[in-house]
Amino acid sequence: MAAPPPTEELPVREAEKKSSTEQEINPWDVQAGQDEQGNTLQFDYVAISQKWATKLIDEVLLQRFERLTGKKPHRWLRRGLFFSHRDFDKILDRYEAGEPFFLYTGRGPSSDALHLGHTIPFTFTKWLQDVFDVPLVIMLTDDEKALFRDGLTFEDTHKFGLHNAKDIIACGFDMKKTFIFSDLEFVSGHFLYNVWEFSKLLPFNQVRGAFGFDGSTNIGRIMFPAVQCAASFATSYPQLWPNYDPKADRSKAIAKIPVLIPMAIDQDPYFRLVRDNSHRMRFPSPKPALIHSKFLTALQGAGGKMSASDPNSAIFMTDTPNQIKNKINKHAFSGGRETLEEHQRLGGIPEVDVAFQYLSYFEDDDAKLLEIETSYRKGTLMTGELKKMAIAMLQEYVKEFQERRKGVTDEVLKGYMTPRELVWKGNPNPVKKEKKSKETKEVKGGEKGVKGDANPTEEKKVES
Ligand code: TRP
Repeated sequence: MAAPPPTEELPVREAEKKSSTEQEINPWDVQAGQDEQGNTLQFDYVAISQKWATKLIDEVLLQRFERLTGKKPHRWLRRGLFFSHRDFDKILDRYEAGEPFFLYTGRGPSSDALHLGHTIPFTFTKWLQDVFDVPLVIMLTDDEKALFRDGLTFEDTHKFGLHNAKDIIACGFDMKKTFIFSDLEFVSGHFLYNVWEFSKLLPFNQVRGAFGFDGSTNIGRIMFPAVQCAASFATSYPQLWPNYDPKADRSKAIAKIPVLIPMAIDQDPYFRLVRDNSHRMRFPSPKPALIHSKFLTALQGAGGKMSASDPNSAIFMTDTPNQIKNKINKHAFSGGRETLEEHQRLGGIPEVDVAFQYLSYFEDDDAKLLEIETSYRKGTLMTGELKKMAIAMLQEYVKEFQERRKGVTDEVLKGYMTPRELVWKGNPNPVKKEKKSKETKEVKGGEKGVKGDANPTEEKKVES
């Protein structure tokens, strides 16, 4: 029966290895390291990838992505904002074969307004959805945020969640392929069964290390990971898949549909738990594939993370063009030099320059960006000019968002949050595989059937 969990995934007891100057990254606490003088350092993303044994996204992977999808990798992939993954290559295998998978991401609604950093994973997920043409579920962890913030009630976080959902919708998701849910509203039925079934597989010892729980942690917090984890299973949402029949349990077939989860790297510990245990569910699922982003730098620079509780650390999606301009001019950490003469002599330092970094998130033209970088480094481009370019790009991104946001009425919100059959097509030109498995036929039906949902090779690997 219950075999000991495989050890491929790196766990867990990071706390033991930490020294006072090391960076801390976990789902509830993200802090950059400090040097001996107490200066904040940049996050070391290669170190976290090594420590957690994730794979760095490399050229070869991106080239394959481009070959299969016919789409140029997003600039956030090309420039390493999304820098790491687990099994993204297997998702590409699925895509190549025309077999279904789905996307899952989420947001912890701890405040009313999204800042720029919050929208990045959603804007990226929207792009993935467009490229792959697959279903997407977006989880609002209103349960989590009230459990983890002493000052917030479940009513507060539920309300924030609905408000945040409108902002999330304004990132441009296609309603036909997207289901957004609040944990407090939706976790019931098949989903809840999965939560309990999964919780039963997790000894407290395994979870404690990954999340830093101890004997004084409230038990809601201890239970919550099972909720965020269970959302990775396609069987939590039988209504979303074609030909749903409430009387027929299709869990066995649906369980084989894998998920790809775009997230900031701090969420990885949850999904390591799923990857270690998904094959132990009654209807085994493949390990979820993950794609990890860095944190969006705070205006103050190195080691900072944009934070909703510090208005000067972030550009908010409700900011006016003028506010954006003032924040960048006043608060964006500059890699330029003190005086004009010095700047021309020594040149600027793009690596620490926040305006340059923001520019690199939004300027799509690689050649143009390289030219800006080179002339800044040489000292022929001044900080003021650089900031001006960054301001213009940010104003544009925020303006487009605000225009879409105006169209998101209560009615529209309800549309996205109603569980219903999602409509998508997947790869239009799959490489045909010879054999289709039995389960495949069971859920296949009309033209939108769940194609090839069983992947025998994958299953074997999961269970080995
Ligand atoms: N816990 C996440 C947060 O606090 C929200 C979340 C839930 C999430 N499921 C996710 C984020 C999956 C990324 C991927 O923001």
